[in-house]
Amino acid sequence: MIRLETRFASSFVSTRELEPFLSTAETARLTLHSADGKGNEYLGWLNLPKKESDSEIERIIQSAERLRAVSETVVIIGIGGSYLGSRAILEAVLPYFKKNSRGNPEILFAGHHLESRYYFELVEYLQDRDFSINVISKSGTTTEPAIAFRILWDLLVKKYGSGAAKRVVATTDVSKGALKSFADAEGFETFTIPDDVGGRYSVLTPVGLFPLAAAGLPIRDFIFGFRNILSDLHENKDPFSNPATRYAALRNYFLSTGRIVEILANFNPSLHFVSEWWKQLFGESEGKENRGIFPASMDFTTDLHSLGQYVQEGKRILFETVLSPSSNRSDLILNSTRENLDSLNFLTGNTIGHVNEQARLGTLLAHADGGVPCLEVVFPDITLSSLGALFYFFEYACAISGYCLGVNPFDQPGVEAYKKNMFSLLDKPGFEKEGAALRKRILGN
Ligand code: PA5
Repeated sequence: MIRLETRFASSFVSTRELEPFLSTAETARLTLHSADGKGNEYLGWLNLPKKESDSEIERIIQSAERLRAVSETVVIIGIGGSYLGSRAILEAVLPYFKKNSRGNPEILFAGHHLESRYYFELVEYLQDRDFSINVISKSGTTTEPAIAFRILWDLLVKKYGSGAAKRVVATTDVSKGALKSFADAEGFETFTIPDDVGGRYSVLTPVGLFPLAAAGLPIRDFIFGFRNILSDLHENKDPFSNPATRYAALRNYFLSTGRIVEILANFNPSLHFVSEWWKQLFGESEGKENRGIFPASMDFTTDLHSLGQYVQEGKRILFETVLSPSSNRSDLILNSTRENLDSLNFLTGNTIGHVNEQARLGTLLAHADGGVPCLEVVFPDITLSSLGALFYFFEYACAISGYCLGVNPFDQPGVEAYKKNMFSLLDKPGFEKEGAALRKRILGN
């Protein structure tokens, strides 16, 4: 179902060179399963696909249907792991050009940044539309989604009065956090995130599933994808043929040869946010203790006309992993014209998909010739079940790769630094002294 193709990377690593990395990766995989590695209190995601209960799935679908029936827009509020998974899947599978109505609402996102203009325009836009909210925060205390919810809850109350609470579904911790207290006080329907599942591994919980259901997607297909690949990955003890173990080994080998940046590339713009999700997964899991591969992303062929120059001829610190679906949902054939004014008649009878595939192969050859090893992650198509398998593949590989690096792939201590400074500069109670010190530093006296 998921295949790791290495034909454009094989000249960069010999079997003998990869061997110790494969062996470390298999040890890391076993550590994951024996639950005696770092961060072992956050391994709930590992067997989650087998644990999702039918009644919980049904409740998600029913509750989403309830919002869909009364909404032209559903706003999903969340950031990081409480945002990127659902956004990635929705962007990948929904039509590019969508028509929306009550009963088939559009999905908008908020709470993933702090730009004032966005919120100003969002409030203006929602003023005359029937809307509902799914607010997601595991901790229930993250500032960005809390601010977005404060603004949109205010609008909801103004529009619907005592009916506002019925238009909110909250996804949060089972017992703690400000969002949980808010939900209890106002009587929102709630879904919970298991304690042992961290944000960036939570796409298969209501964090990811509710927004998909709100968009009217068959979430069981997505769950099926996870279930379908789980045993293949768990049971394959051969680190060469297990694509997740091999991917983890290759990444760490490339890192050991000075390739400190991995580019996740695609030739399908609908996969742009899959890369965003992947960047968070690997960036937060591995980038710590002065270690880790920097996860970057590019959308081809668009970026071949910008960053492609660097990839081809810049500093040789890169390797590339290309998301490669084997088939297209739809295609167009190029016709001939009598005048051939654009000189494209040589393409007559070819599909755009065929042209894109030749661009893909040509790019991989060129990048490999230019000194950039290229891996391909091959999956059948851009459907919910294939994406479910792809997401689990990356989660599993990321945990293994993090253990190979020797870090805890399940914490993110570095995220606190900017928050502390922001709270200090905003004079949050308890941070006043730090605020004064920071202002002094900023002003330079
Ligand atoms: O992966 C993570 O744990 C983080 O990216 C969180 O998902 C993100 O910080 C949002 O946190 P929360 O869901 O608690 O609001």
